[in-house]
Amino acid sequence: MLSEEKNRQLTQVGPGKPMGELLRRYWHPIAGVSEFDARATKPVRLLGEDLVLYRDLSGTFGLVDRHCPHRRADLSHGMVEACGLRCNYHGWRYDETGACVEQPYEDTAHPELRMREKITLKAYPVEAKGGLVWAYLGPQPAPLLPDWEPFSWPNGFAQIVISEVPCNWFQAQENSIDPVHFEWMHENWGQRLRGESGPYGPTHLKLAFEEFEFGFVYKRVKEDTSEAHPNWTVGRVCLWPNGFFLGEHFEWRVPIDDENLLSVTWKFNRVPREQEPYVQASIPTWEGPVFDAEGRWITSHVVNQDFLAWAGQGRITDRTQEHLGASDRGVVMVRKRFFEEMKAIAEGADAKGLIRDPARNVRVELPLMERADVTQGFTKAEILADPRKRMLSTTYPFQAGQPEWVREAFAEAMGLEVAEFTGLGAARTPAGSDA
Ligand code: FES
Ligand SMILES: [Fe+2]
Repeated sequence: MLSEEKNRQLTQVGPGKPMGELLRRYWHPIAGVSEFDARATKPVRLLGEDLVLYRDLSGTFGLVDRHCPHRRADLSHGMVEACGLRCNYHGWRYDETGACVEQPYEDTAHPELRMREKITLKAYPVEAKGGLVWAYLGPQPAPLLPDWEPFSWPNGFAQIVISEVPCNWFQAQENSIDPVHFEWMHENWGQRLRGESGPYGPTHLKLAFEEFEFGFVYKRVKEDTSEAHPNWTVGRVCLWPNGFFLGEHFEWRVPIDDENLLSVTWKFNRVPREQEPYVQASIPTWEGPVFDAEGRWITSHVVNQDFLAWAGQGRITDRTQEHLGASDRGVVMVRKRFFEEMKAIAEGADAKGLIRDPARNVRVELPLMERADVTQGFTKAEILADPRKRMLSTTYPFQAGQPEWVREAFAEAMGLEVAEFTGLGAARTPAGSDA
């Protein structure tokens, strides 16, 4: 249970708020690079700020204020040029640093006034990595954008899934350090959704939570596993400050504002050995729906179930009304670290887990249970003979709405027949996929 004041500290992300200042020390994924094959600009709301992400005709990304400093036109309707973004109202043009590089009428009629030298558009650094576009809204010097090892794994098919979820980011991040929910939400409730009533999934017997440089690890022993299992020897990563790393799968809970988050999933599948060498030309990005055509929560896929859980806690969950139990030790650890970090940052300290040394930022490894799977791969026969590998290699069970064109690209990469995942009504929850 927290006081109202502490709950506000954890959840308010705007500029000047302690958590807003903390989160501005990190790079955040805000879009897929491949989205810009079909568009030039994208309105983005991030940490309570309204912005426009664009890619100009020379391929440079920029992230700038949504509104033109002239008379506030919406720059998401702007035109990209060889360099920069031009406002569609009176043609003022800006580059990715926010400099106003052209004012057609003023430059022509009154060049002596040199007005544009006095105009700046708010602009933030952006970088592309892993098929994602990342933004940094914090003070300079910016830390390095982490080069997480999976972004350069060879012989794989990656895909990016993006969804807006109507709740505060922090309750979603608490889900990244919540091992027991897997047993109940995904296994047991999943079973009820299928119309079954047992036997329930294996019970959790023992949990451990540990902090490391880039976040926290949770470890578990369940009825069906021992301390020799990677679930205990390695565990899963609650990635600081707002990510979740599950082996071949990252999730980020990116704050849009205090009451909405952008869920960004990066999913990797190693292709079968017969398909090697495989080089992916472009990482597809797709938008995952949160509600069905009738406006009901989609519950058929793992991550959709999580969305429903997070938003069900309220737009901003009221932590003055909660009662934490023994399963929440990780949640308590993470909150405590955030309070300590907010204080340290306010006092001028550097933030936790930043990488500033380029020599350190090369294929940065995280605790990984599936190392052999991604480094060695499997033959088609091995994949098809194992029900879990088969499901993960021939469907997308994590989130609803995978478009046909992504499914086809995945099938081609895998050299396997791939079907639409018809939901947890048709198959078991992919054990380990969300654990
Ligand atoms: S409002 Fe943008 S150029 Fe006038
Ligand atoms: Fe989950």
